[in-house]
Amino acid sequence: MTRDLSYDAVMSRNGEIMKKALGFDYAQFETGGIAFDYEGMMESVPYTFEEIRDYQLNHGVGNTALLELRNLTKLARTCAPEGMGARILVKDEASNVSGSYKARRASTSVQYAKAQGFEGVIAATSGNYGTGVATQAAMVGLKTIVVQECFDSRGVGQPEIIEKARACEAIGAEVAQLTVGPELFYYNLVLLEETGFFNASLYSPFGVRGIETLGVEIAEECKEKYGKYPEVVIATNAGGGNLTGTARGLLRAGAKDTEVIAASVDLSGLHMASDNQFNRKSFTTGHTGFGVPFATYPDRSDVPRSAARPMRYMDRYVTVTQGSVFYITELLAQLEGMERGPAGNTSLAVAFKVAQTLPEDAILVVQETEYTGAGKHINPQLTFAKENGIDVRVGDPAEEVPGENIIIPSHPSLVKVSEMDINKTRRSYVKNAVKNHKVEEVSKEDLEFLAAEIKSDVDAVKGFLDELEIPYVK
Ligand SMILES: Cc1ncc(COP(=O)(O)O)c(C=O)c1O
Repeated sequence: MTRDLSYDAVMSRNGEIMKKALGFDYAQFETGGIAFDYEGMMESVPYTFEEIRDYQLNHGVGNTALLELRNLTKLARTCAPEGMGARILVKDEASNVSGSYKARRASTSVQYAKAQGFEGVIAATSGNYGTGVATQAAMVGLKTIVVQECFDSRGVGQPEIIEKARACEAIGAEVAQLTVGPELFYYNLVLLEETGFFNASLYSPFGVRGIETLGVEIAEECKEKYGKYPEVVIATNAGGGNLTGTARGLLRAGAKDTEVIAASVDLSGLHMASDNQFNRKSFTTGHTGFGVPFATYPDRSDVPRSAARPMRYMDRYVTVTQGSVFYITELLAQLEGMERGPAGNTSLAVAFKVAQTLPEDAILVVQETEYTGAGKHINPQLTFAKENGIDVRVGDPAEEVPGENIIIPSHPSLVKVSEMDINKTRRSYVKNAVKNHKVEEVSKEDLEFLAAEIKSDVDAVKGFLDELEIPYVK
């Protein structure tokens, strides 16, 4: 019998395809309503933390250098009040075998897929994750298919996404490049069903448990070198796994008082799913176009329940302009001799400003770098921006308008970051959760779950529900 491959038919088989392609059923963690057993789901990965860490170390992942950026710190201090300017450190994740922290995220999925006898793995991603999966799979003899959202309807692709396809293919992966739109999820399901490959989803518990080693390494290395855990860790935020996994690792290691800050490039006003706006941005990840919707509704991902739940762990959410990130990329290269890619430098740009608000003896860790090259570099990005009608100039980044211009700061003191109102973000989370689960009245269990989801307490959740006029069990 031939399978019905119409959009609706494939979507209606989603649950059964996922169950086969992941080796477990999400239904077992559902408790009804909004709540589900998040920790139970994370614990269902059949490896201990030590087993995950050992596997990574044997496959070119982890144990990356933690470097102090002395010159950048010095420059930040020239812009700060007397006695202020924390020491800025960076975890050099570019030295993972695939060139980014995504190797950590890929390794546990591949470890599991190999152990379960799958012939190959599939990952839906336009980013570094494809290379992470392809690299890990190549090492153990599994096939890889990467499904990318790549082109606008003219067939034009962002240089960074093209670069990532190139890197995946170089490692032996097959890359399916699609135009922007809903076909990504559909096509991913068709391929999973057709091949019987493992779904190496970015958002499965395998992926996010693999990132915990990053947080543990940061905590342990700071303790060893500086005698304390870092005061602040900054993580570039898009789908939220990077921050979730790192923060879980910090907690696992005992760094309970470390403030965790999410950082995203400000692309407000641009629509990611819009054909004609898709190529008007210079950053393909770590931006608000993913960061805000995923933070306020994490289950929009390609699995029924996402393991990436950043609002559980973030204390603050800070955004930065595109021009400021380009500027910091150049400073990192010229002052520290490190030429690195855009995603880690998003956090670094935020760190440059946040450091100025902390005392000199505080430690601030930017938790990743990523490799750069071909399409990721500043030059192809700014050329592409100009070709797409974006005005690129030097000046005050406070005047930057996403999709219209890119303003490289004319002085380091002008690097522009903005604090998001975290309570507004929490309120949006609560509103979305109630709406998407179609709940008439929020139960006691849901109240407690929501409090954990937004890193707050039940009274705060009740306050939001009162404001939104949503009933709950008293
Ligand atoms: C190097 C790098 N850093 C950070 C991120 C953001 O991670 P997340 O989507 O888990 O928030 C990505 C994701 O594309 C990435 O490739």
